[in-house]
Amino acid sequence: MPGVPEGLPDPRRHPGHADQRGRALDSAPTAVILAGGQGTRLRPLTLARPKPIVPLLNVPFLHYQLALLRQHGIRDIVLACSYRVESIRAQLGDGRDLGVRLRYAVEAEPLGTAGGVRNAAEPTGGRVVVLNGDVLTDVDLSQMVQSHVARGAQASIYLTPVEDPTPYGLVETDADGRILRFVEKPSREAITTNTINAGIYLLNRELLDLIPRGQVVSMERDFFPGLLARRIPFFGFVARAYWLDIGSPEQYRQAQVDLLNGAVATRLTPRGTRSDNVWVGETVAMASSAVVSGPAVLGSGITLEPEVSVGPFTVLGDGVSIGRGSRLEGAILWDHVQVGEAAVLRECVVGSRALIGKGARVGPGAVVSENEVVP
Ligand code: GTP
Repeated sequence: MPGVPEGLPDPRRHPGHADQRGRALDSAPTAVILAGGQGTRLRPLTLARPKPIVPLLNVPFLHYQLALLRQHGIRDIVLACSYRVESIRAQLGDGRDLGVRLRYAVEAEPLGTAGGVRNAAEPTGGRVVVLNGDVLTDVDLSQMVQSHVARGAQASIYLTPVEDPTPYGLVETDADGRILRFVEKPSREAITTNTINAGIYLLNRELLDLIPRGQVVSMERDFFPGLLARRIPFFGFVARAYWLDIGSPEQYRQAQVDLLNGAVATRLTPRGTRSDNVWVGETVAMASSAVVSGPAVLGSGITLEPEVSVGPFTVLGDGVSIGRGSRLEGAILWDHVQVGEAAVLRECVVGSRALIGKGARVGPGAVVSENEVVP
């Protein structure tokens, strides 16, 4: 099984919530991963594969979130799904191979972010961790739980500082971290803080009673303002962890550069064996004059013809073949892409089974659809 986390505490010896050193804490939260969006910003890639399972270093994206949850002792996980749920289920199954218990709560029509959480979890006792299903992060969830408990919070949001907050939802807090105000996608003049809503929440489950069942409800627009209006203890948890929304092509590629750079603390590793900072799968046919410079990931069944140069930050999916003299750098190629001779691919993303013609130039910033032919 690719990317199974290693060296984790044995769940039989540490039932319930465990911290990073495997010490058991009581009553582990359940997690709900919001995975029902259409991922329009990542089109055309998400027409072929829904965003929760787009590959990152050839591993379906949600594996990284499942590994993070498991690392913090959270094994009971519900995927709040709607769009393309069957493709997601086919990839992730019941989570057993990843050491978690994965269930699916399917919305016939998308219920929005809060509606999706309500559909996936009951307002019983205990807590629920909610993650946007497009966030790559190594935030310390155990610390977030501790901070939530220590401050007597009923709801907490992980806030991350960013340089340019204009595309995000800003969250203002007071000196104690209590949330004061939300400002969605502010203009430059309206920027009052650089901490944004990072799309990870911890909620006391009884709060879910405030979300009407079966209705379209937004976390950011409806549920959170409702908590403020009711003066519910609601805090921001600011952490300088790695955090990136992988929801645009540029950020999707950047996430893989960051993983290859070691900027993200994760226990997942690409499949295959590693040497000279290059991960290589099985049966790679590489001409003696082909050169691969790491960091890079090569899947299984790859063919590199003579004089091919695979440069740093390139990821090749299974069954990719690269024609004579072609050069790649910072290119992400999904499975079974075929590249002809003397092509140059730079800082681009190429969907499965695309054909890149002889002498073609692709990138920087280009996205090639699944099955597309680039002459
Ligand atoms: P874009 O269309 O590219 O903005 O992507 P998106 O559809 O994923 O929307 P957005 O990034 O705003 O969504 C944030 C997270 O919430 C993502 O993980 C989505 O999968 C999820 N999400 C958005 N809408 C719904 C919904 O109606 N139901 C569920 N279950 N999840 C949702």
